[in-house]
Amino acid sequence: MAGVDTPATPPQTGPEEPFDPHAPRYDAHGRDQYGRSRLHPRVTSFRTRRGTLTPAQQRSWDELWDRVGKDAADEMIDPASWFGRTAPLVVEIGAGTGTSTAAMALAEPEIDVIAVEVYHPGLAQLLHAINREQIPNIRLVRGDGVDVLENMIAPASLTGVRVFFPDPWPKVRHHKRRLLQPETFALIASRLRVGGVLHVATDHAEYAEWIAEAAAEVPILRTLDGVSPIGLDRPETKFEGKAKAADRPVAEMIWRKAER
Ligand SMILES: C[S@@+](CC[C@H](N)C(=O)[O-])C[C@H]1O[C@@H](n2cnc3c(N)ncnc32)[C@H](O)[C@@H]1O
Repeated sequence: MAGVDTPATPPQTGPEEPFDPHAPRYDAHGRDQYGRSRLHPRVTSFRTRRGTLTPAQQRSWDELWDRVGKDAADEMIDPASWFGRTAPLVVEIGAGTGTSTAAMALAEPEIDVIAVEVYHPGLAQLLHAINREQIPNIRLVRGDGVDVLENMIAPASLTGVRVFFPDPWPKVRHHKRRLLQPETFALIASRLRVGGVLHVATDHAEYAEWIAEAAAEVPILRTLDGVSPIGLDRPETKFEGKAKAADRPVAEMIWRKAER
């Protein structure tokens, strides 16, 4: 897992040349030093899932992507020009099909949301909802949330970060793929403004413990004990429904960035 200043992890199976931690992470074509696309990295917190879009999703994609979507790149986002206004900004990492993203953005029209996801049909489904419901305050980035936070989001610029039901990678040998590592918490903390909140939900008890331990390594993140500057009400998604049906409690964790 890449962190605040850490370079890309060397691939598990890759070419023979030694991993160079000082090489630029991605070239002008979005390829890393092993030729892998930054849109489909192999050693990351996600499995690449490709899929075809329905005709309606494809139409929404063709119509809207250039205006409300971007691929991960070494280019800082200027939220004021992208959204056409200045408003509190939230980044949601791993938005999936965007059920929570769309509902929460509709409930909070005064907040701007950037949804980051690698799953193309998921992004397309969210785009379709944006089109259908005419939701003005969502933008999408296709790529790895860590890459996007590091290279596209300015320090101390976010009022919130949301991570709902991150892939738990339950096998011990896969724990390194988990999105929420101490380095990710440090990176998230660096992108939050003072008073900004990180809201995480998971139905995986062991991952919840891991998450609490990882967050404890970043003491500037304190458990929220007062009013949140962003809404915390999530609609029930497919993952939450499955968790409830299987009697798995959902852990809801919310931190606030302290001054120091
Ligand atoms: C279990 S799903 C949860 C989706 C959604 N948050 C929900 O609650 O319905 C996890 C999602 O995170 C995405 N994901 C995993 N690692 C990611 C990363 N590093 N950057 C962006 N998206 C990621 C996956 O593609 C997947 O859609």
